[in-house]
Amino acid sequence: MPSLSPPVVEPVVQCPAWSRLMHLAALPQPHLRERLQQAGRAETFRAEGAGLALDFSRQCLDEATLDALLSLADERGVMAQAQAMFAGEPINATEGRAVLHVALRGSDQPNPPWGEPLAAEVRAELDRVCHAADALRSGAWRGHTGERITDVVNLGIGGSDLGPRMVCEALVPLVNATSPEPAPLRVHFASNPDAWSLHTVLAGLDPARTAFVVQSKTFATQETLTLAASARAWMLAAGCSTAQLPAHFLAVTARPERAHALGFTPERTLRIWDWVGGRYSVWSAIGLPVAIAVGSAVFRQLLAGGRAMDAHFLAAPPRRNLPLLMAMLGVWNRNFLRAPTQLIVPYASLLSRFVPFVQQMDMESNGKSTQVDGQPVAVGTGPIVWGGLGIDGQHAYFQLVHQGSHRIPVDFIGERHSRAPLPLAAEHHRVVLLNLNAQAQALALGRDAEATAAELRASGRPEDEVQRLVPHRTFRGDVPSNILWMDTLTPQSLGALIALHEHKVFCQAAVWGIHAFDQWGVELGKSMAQAMERQHV
Ligand code: F6P
Repeated sequence: MPSLSPPVVEPVVQCPAWSRLMHLAALPQPHLRERLQQAGRAETFRAEGAGLALDFSRQCLDEATLDALLSLADERGVMAQAQAMFAGEPINATEGRAVLHVALRGSDQPNPPWGEPLAAEVRAELDRVCHAADALRSGAWRGHTGERITDVVNLGIGGSDLGPRMVCEALVPLVNATSPEPAPLRVHFASNPDAWSLHTVLAGLDPARTAFVVQSKTFATQETLTLAASARAWMLAAGCSTAQLPAHFLAVTARPERAHALGFTPERTLRIWDWVGGRYSVWSAIGLPVAIAVGSAVFRQLLAGGRAMDAHFLAAPPRRNLPLLMAMLGVWNRNFLRAPTQLIVPYASLLSRFVPFVQQMDMESNGKSTQVDGQPVAVGTGPIVWGGLGIDGQHAYFQLVHQGSHRIPVDFIGERHSRAPLPLAAEHHRVVLLNLNAQAQALALGRDAEATAAELRASGRPEDEVQRLVPHRTFRGDVPSNILWMDTLTPQSLGALIALHEHKVFCQAAVWGIHAFDQWGVELGKSMAQAMERQHV
């Protein structure tokens, strides 16, 4: 590892813009009910880029606060740090690495900032990924009996599972619904080393027609190697010989020598690089299950969506820059409104795994409390990210968001149009949009005691009952939210949505002065397990 002396980081609280924000936060804050009355607010607090539109009119801030937040980003050099990332500087300093997931989706552009030699390597590996996916889909690569592969099982955990799983779940139904041909393959996922997890996937699969993709950047993750050994035993028990196993196994890793030592062939070992963080790796060969499930052309469209968001992030002015705006709105909520969590609720059922994916991206990146120079961070950092599909959430935990004792900022994600091929799809979508808009509005406006009493009286309740019920049926409101709109879910819009969240997390880390790209916090438990294994505990 190159020896890097850590830059001294001025604590964020010493920035002039931070003091200004403290002052603004201490002023009396109008309720969102009042803010939303302001003429032109919907147009002012809105931005668009890479096919996505952010409505942040329901955030609890005004123009002066937004200006101060963007000044803070400027004082922290957020965009300069972004340029350093795109230029391939070793910004992951505790691991001595560059951070170049952006190169994975942008390497066919002329003069990439990370340099043409690396771009050429990326293009070559992407071609290998597409070739492998095409060979499996077309039947050119078959199982040991000569039969076509019909099922592919992804074995991996964390970033080697969450990204490809989430994207497959979103895109497979979309692509299958519009394809004239039946899908040649099904892709399944097992990440948990509990034997039931793999058993549940394998039950009903035919070993002669099943292939496994063993995904592990390090090829040392015990959970994944346990699953791979079990899959190997399952194949052998079904009559496949050791010599025939390579027809059923592919590996994706940054440590190909470890895969080769376990019997994976060079032809079926795909490569990622040290500079691809696990949680940022869906754009790399770790995305192979996506290319297998929906075809390599669709995988390239996903990359194009990510690239479009990169271009927007680098070029858009701060007031129009989606990742920067989302990051700074998050900083306002986290540090000045003191909200410890961030709720994310997609109102698109194909995005049902988006929240677990963002949880890893955000919390593994910004779950830190040490500045890059080793000093403790003086302020709150990454929020607890949680959530799930919005409509389902409404009938579960939204009660706590509406009337609980926490103030919980919400990111709604919606599609303006749905392409589901059902006769009543338009009616389904009307209901979905109605609910999304109603929830955002209800959380913002709430309902005060007076309005609640009036409503109860109008329903004919006697006055004593009105008085008894009012405290239970009032809503404080003033809950900040964003609505992030896609025109419709496509491979491109999904790519842009993922990249938007990646850059948002990056910007927040830059503001707080923490390292976003290491994950030492997960190491202690791992090494403890290894030590216990050695001691036969
Ligand atoms: O334990 C966390 C982690 O290191 C993640 O960052 C990573 O995505 C996951 O483990 C899997 O690691 P690997 O791909 O090396 O098996």
